[in-house]
Amino acid sequence: MASSSDYFSSFSRASLPLLFFFFFFFLLHSDASAQLSTGYYAESCPRVFDTVKSVVKSAIQQEKRIGASLLRLLFHDCFVIGCDASVLLDDTPTLLGEKTAKPNNNSLRGFEVIDRIKTAVDKVCPGVVSCADILAITARDSVVFLNGPSWEVKLGRRDSRKASFNKANTDIPPPTSSLANLTAAYAKKGLSVRDLVALSGAHTIGQARCVSFRDRIYNDTDIKGSFAKLRQANCPRTAGSGDDNLAPLDLQTPTVFDKDYFENLVGSKGLLHSDQELYNTRGSSSAALVKSYSGSTSAFFDDFVAAMIKMSDIRPLTGKRGEIRKNCRKVN
Ligand code: HEM
Ligand SMILES: *[C@@H]1O[C@H](CO)[C@@H](O)[C@H](O)[C@H]1NC(C)=O
Ligand SMILES: *[C@@H]1O[C@H](CO)[C@@H](O)[C@H](O)[C@H]1NC(C)=O
Ligand SMILES: *[C@@H]1O[C@H](CO)[C@@H](O)[C@H](O)[C@H]1NC(C)=O
Repeated sequence: MASSSDYFSSFSRASLPLLFFFFFFFLLHSDASAQLSTGYYAESCPRVFDTVKSVVKSAIQQEKRIGASLLRLLFHDCFVIGCDASVLLDDTPTLLGEKTAKPNNNSLRGFEVIDRIKTAVDKVCPGVVSCADILAITARDSVVFLNGPSWEVKLGRRDSRKASFNKANTDIPPPTSSLANLTAAYAKKGLSVRDLVALSGAHTIGQARCVSFRDRIYNDTDIKGSFAKLRQANCPRTAGSGDDNLAPLDLQTPTVFDKDYFENLVGSKGLLHSDQELYNTRGSSSAALVKSYSGSTSAFFDDFVAAMIKMSDIRPLTGKRGEIRKNCRKVN
């Protein structure tokens, strides 16, 4: 008579290949483990890349700042629920979108460019490419057109049927954040201090409104005096006056993706309080990273690319979840 241990060992030996088969079958087919991949549209829409690129190119030729605005859209999408194009949904009587949340209201831009891209992409492959994937490709192309690094974008995200006004307010950090606030906000999304500092390098391009940096230029002490004066000239102290007046986030080259942003921080010339915070705690890993990026374009670019890929991977909808929107502004 076979002992029970013999019985189990022969059972597991016989069924081991079967178990492996089911394990890999599960990996391939379960939504929970579905993965993004760079070749996702290789069969279904190989022209997606050229199509997106040509619309982004003409938009940036018209206005260089739009490249910055398009990059920011991806950040504000991914930090709210996940990279699911929730940021693009317009308000309706039954859906409160994210566009009027505090970090976005009167600030986010580029929605018309995304509409143009969606129309162009749907002309070459109707109903195939998600708005969430369009945001990810568009952000990459924008960085490349402004002389930044390139990378292969992972694809296969689907579009949400909902948005979250509240999470847009709580999960996108405000410019008044301390280093501890920023570190916590990024950790909540699975991102490290290295990701935080590298991604903040996006502020090498684009503009901010007076309302976003007023307190910094009048009240912060860790700011170079001549720089504070320069910015005060176009941003009155009184709240409510000149709130929308713009200043470049990088005072040297706001339309070139370079390491100047980090040099500014080392010189106490960060425009946002949250920017300067990255360099303020001597001996912190954050300050060390700022210093290192300020001296090495390749160190910045390598970490920026890695962090963009991580950020673009935050909780995508894959498999059968979500939908491929027909119009990026509304659920089907
Ligand atoms: C670390 C936390 C961050 C904070 C507190 C922050 C805050 C801000 C603020 C306050 C503005 C100006 C908005 C306005 O006044 O209208 C801005 C602009 C911008 N942000 Fe950030 N940001 C952060 C991270 C990021 C990340 C991760 C990216 C992209 C990877 C990004 C990309 C941009 C760009 C490109 C602009 C300029 C947009 C334009 O000119 O239209 N930011 N950010
Ligand atoms: C968004 O800004 C507009 C004015 O520009 C303002 O009337 C509205 O109250 C703001 N929305 C929210 C939700 O704060
Ligand atoms: C930042 O951290 C401080 C101290 O923990 C906290 O009181 C404050 O609410 C935080 N601010 C944000 C925007 O998270
Ligand atoms: C600066 O700090 C003072 C005192 O805390 C405060 O009253 C003021 O609103 C702050 N902001 C500006 C722009 O002066």
